[in-house]
Amino acid sequence: MEIHRTPGSMQKQSQAWKKEGRSIGFVPTMGFLHEGHLSLMDIAARNADLVVVSIFVNPTQFGPTEDLASYPRNLERDLELCQSRGVAAVFTPEPQDMYGPEFQTYVTLEKLPNHLCGLSRPVHFRGVATVVSKLFNMVLPDVAVFGEKDFQQLAVIRQLTQDLNFPVRILGGPIVRESDGLAMSSRNTYLSSGERASALCLSRALEGASRRVKEGEIRADHIRREAEKEISSHPFTEIDYVTLCRPDTLEEVEVISGPTLMALAVKVGKTRLIDNAVLTP
Ligand code: PAJ
Repeated sequence: MEIHRTPGSMQKQSQAWKKEGRSIGFVPTMGFLHEGHLSLMDIAARNADLVVVSIFVNPTQFGPTEDLASYPRNLERDLELCQSRGVAAVFTPEPQDMYGPEFQTYVTLEKLPNHLCGLSRPVHFRGVATVVSKLFNMVLPDVAVFGEKDFQQLAVIRQLTQDLNFPVRILGGPIVRESDGLAMSSRNTYLSSGERASALCLSRALEGASRRVKEGEIRADHIRREAEKEISSHPFTEIDYVTLCRPDTLEEVEVISGPTLMALAVKVGKTRLIDNAVLTP
């Protein structure tokens, strides 16, 4: 497995692979890898000749009061996991090589960030869109895989790929969960044991909503209130949002008349967790 530490070295390798006619499947990550990340590598491997994984805790997508400094890291273990999954190259650049002192060019979307996580994380999607555009220019992927766990992020990436004409096919991977239902996340490591128990409120709220919609409930505000009740019944929880919206535009709906995204963000202790499900009547 190759390890590339600078944009130049990664780009040169990708150009060489492309000259040989080999297609590249790309999985961008911030490391501290878990089965969710690994499932995306498997999807990439099925859709390209070789897989490149990036590991980069991207400073521009963290707000000033967020967890950039404490974000969990374990590069050695991550490299072992990538190797065990047959990854051809890991790209792990330093922040100063991604953002020079005169850096001033950002990618911003006009509409998709004005919903869900974008409301409480105002610079987040600008940072994501910028770093993913840069990574696409360094890794030169044919296919890139993103998790549905970050549903809004996937929507942002699909839109920017279309808007900026990146020749990249974007694939989504299903949410991978712990056996009790908690969506896997690098941030789960922040949870104390009491908080870990409370964190189940997210998947429980989504399960309850799915059941109600299958039983014929179509009122979004009713589904939302029941979910809020479930979440608030667990200690340490503070709701950021419970939203039912259109999966394509992320605009809120009042009536569930077709596939509807239910997205949640909840602080459990100091840790902000997200989860979602598409509800189908
Ligand atoms: P990170 O949080 O490390 O996630 C990397 C990829 O793994 C994302 O596409 C995310 O949606 C996916 N993922 C995380 N948990 C998952 C789970 N339980 N099941 C399935 N997929 C999961 O998302 C980022 O990093 C960054 O914003 C990044 C895109 C790398 C840009 O910096």
